[in-house]
Amino acid sequence: MIRRPFVEFAGLGVAVPERVVTNAEFEKTLETSDQWIVERTGIRERRVAPPEQSVAMLARDASLRALAQAGIGPEDLDAIVLATATPDRLLPSTACDLQALLGAKNAAAFDVSAACPGFLYALTVAEGLIASGQGTNILIVGAEKLNTIADPTDRSTAILFGDAAGAAVIRRTSGGTRGVLSTFIKSDGNLANLLYRPGGGAVDPISSKVVAERSHYIKMAGREVFKSAVLAMSDACDQALTRAGMTADQVDLLVPHQANIRIIEATAKHAGMPLEKVMINVDRYGNTSSASIPLAIDQAIAEGRVKPGSILLLVAFGGGFTWASAVVRW
Ligand code: ACO
Repeated sequence: MIRRPFVEFAGLGVAVPERVVTNAEFEKTLETSDQWIVERTGIRERRVAPPEQSVAMLARDASLRALAQAGIGPEDLDAIVLATATPDRLLPSTACDLQALLGAKNAAAFDVSAACPGFLYALTVAEGLIASGQGTNILIVGAEKLNTIADPTDRSTAILFGDAAGAAVIRRTSGGTRGVLSTFIKSDGNLANLLYRPGGGAVDPISSKVVAERSHYIKMAGREVFKSAVLAMSDACDQALTRAGMTADQVDLLVPHQANIRIIEATAKHAGMPLEKVMINVDRYGNTSSASIPLAIDQAIAEGRVKPGSILLLVAFGGGFTWASAVVRW
């Protein structure tokens, strides 16, 4: 039996920096080629934010659009849950900076650290906040400047990432059938060192040694991440569908985290979803981590691929390892 929704997406908004960086730009500084990048990742270009455009500013621009669509103002927000792997500062949270930028004076604000599935983790937190009576309107955000933590001299990671933000207002359903039909979150901390930033935290605080060793940048075992991502995202699709009481043939659009076209294709195959029912925009934006799912949904809506009542299967995987999924009736 299909589960009745408890919360719904009341508004969605995204923001991307203006500057487009094509694969050709990397050919100037790295031993790589447009052909290699397209074949192995599916990425053709990505957006890169300038230093003066903070994560909180990208988040603000996305949030204002989500609020406008929801028909509420910043002061109507009860909580801001911001997912990021690239906070502007380690203290305070970027959510608090966003709260100040928005003037959301009635909200509690905090960050969620769950890497690429962060937006789906934030959605799960929002469900919990609403269920426990903490609030009515919860702003969830995925916002990243991944290019600030990618090593520009490491060709296996420098080419992968894009900067972006996506935001949504989550609220209790008004009794209809549209809304979030299931959520699923899971992690495996034993695999942390396959995708991580060794330096710059409390274990190895920022120092000239950390900078000299470049250990403040992302380190990634690409092949292992790839294999784990396919297995975990495939399982997460099954979990969310089971919890929603649905099967893959009832899904109108699979919206996977946009990390790599080959991970997306393998996940879709396992989920039994034909590629025409899969949202793909990794070619335009690269891997934008926690912003990737809202960015993909927003484009799917603009292209007319998501309409009121459409069933979406959202799924993501990232550093931690963490993975998550959700089924939503739009
Ligand atoms: N250009 C040219 N050659 C490259 C590049 C590049 N940009 N990057 C790596 N190579 C080389 C490697 O050095 C290696 O050379 P060697 O054989 O001489 O040693 C060769 O290509 C093969 O390297 P692999 O790492 O085995 O290549 P693979 O086919 O696995 O592709 C990639 C690498 C694209 C990183 C892939 O493993 C991948 O996408 N993994 C998933 C990682 C990911 O998406 N991480 C993001 C965060 S987690 C997430 O969002 C899911």
